[in-house]
Amino acid sequence: MHTITLIKGDGIGPSIMDEAVKVINATGVKIEWEEAYAGLSAFEKFGTPLPEETMASFDKTRVAFKGPLTTVVGSGFRSINVALRQQYDLYANVRPAKSWAGIKTRYEDVDIVIVRENTEGLYVGLEHYLSPKKDIAESLAVVTRTASERIVEYAFQYARDNNRKKVTVCHKANILKFSQGLFLDVAREVAARYPDIAFDEKIVDAACMHMVMKPEQFDVVVTTNMFGDILSDLTAGLVGGLGLIPGANIGADAALFEAVHGSAPDIAGKNLANPIAVIMAGAMMLSHIGEVEAAEKVIKAVEKVVNEGIYVTPDLNPDSKYGTIEMGNAIAAAVE
Ligand SMILES: NC(=O)c1ccc[n+]([C@@H]2O[C@H](COP(=O)([O-])OP(=O)(O)OC[C@H]3O[C@@H](n4cnc5c(N)ncnc54)[C@H](O)[C@@H]3O)[C@@H](O)[C@H]2O)c1
Repeated sequence: MHTITLIKGDGIGPSIMDEAVKVINATGVKIEWEEAYAGLSAFEKFGTPLPEETMASFDKTRVAFKGPLTTVVGSGFRSINVALRQQYDLYANVRPAKSWAGIKTRYEDVDIVIVRENTEGLYVGLEHYLSPKKDIAESLAVVTRTASERIVEYAFQYARDNNRKKVTVCHKANILKFSQGLFLDVAREVAARYPDIAFDEKIVDAACMHMVMKPEQFDVVVTTNMFGDILSDLTAGLVGGLGLIPGANIGADAALFEAVHGSAPDIAGKNLANPIAVIMAGAMMLSHIGEVEAAEKVIKAVEKVVNEGIYVTPDLNPDSKYGTIEMGNAIAAAVE
């Protein structure tokens, strides 16, 4: 029996997470779901977007499955997602984007995994105004050798474990010679320890162009926090959109699985939200807890339903009469 902290989240969160839990339970893996709250729903219930009860659950289970959270403006937290990543040192953000046979896009052969440094860079929160008039602002990017080394190591080890051939480091060391220069230097050092994996370097702006023109030249991509944030939305666009991309936040002794997209208030409560991203995040979580066979079952079931194109949400097929619940039911049935 596994115990997992379940945070359904806000907006479309509860509806897509209910479908994801249904699909995971259909694999037969025994999971005790410990429900906890974060984001707007927690703020309304407990007066804080990150209650102690939620942290206590995650402290114990060390695995969380989380729906998207609406950012609560003026709550004292910049972002609950960033707070959780920093608190549990979830340093590796892994975001795979793969073409689907049943989803028409410009390319058929995209298979890119973005490995994003998740704890530092420009997202450390060191920002302020430099003048009383607030007409000059400064944001600091922090890059450390330790964090750079562990994320690049993670990317190479991921490539080796998942039978992937190449790691590309995306950087801006030509301009940001210190922070990005350090990241690139460390990437080169780590790459030398993995002679079995090809290594490539790309300046991030050129990488964006290459990714939209020739995505097949990318395999695993490792990069700093903000570039990873941007590049992973770019790769989402290459394979059919944000509703499809899962994300794993991995630390040394804790992990959190979620979709890349947000709480989509514009479509909440309408049975329109695509549950694929959280279901695929659930598959990543099953692998993480050692239930590899169940993870494969989930992926195959999702592929079947998406590629048949019948029980899918309207973002995948505008003529579809079906929505979130019907898609979840079809995937759960395919798992069984
Ligand atoms: N990991 C997270 O918890 C996370 C990530 C991003 C944004 N957010 C928060 O979510 C809220 C809304 O943000 P936003 O509108 O900028 O981004 P969003 O990702 O919620 O939505 C962007 C667009 O994509 C669509 N979309 C998103 N997920 C979809 C799905 N599963 N199926 C179909 N369509 C989908 C939405 O309808 C919207 O048109 C904000 O409060 C933001 O801070 C949270």
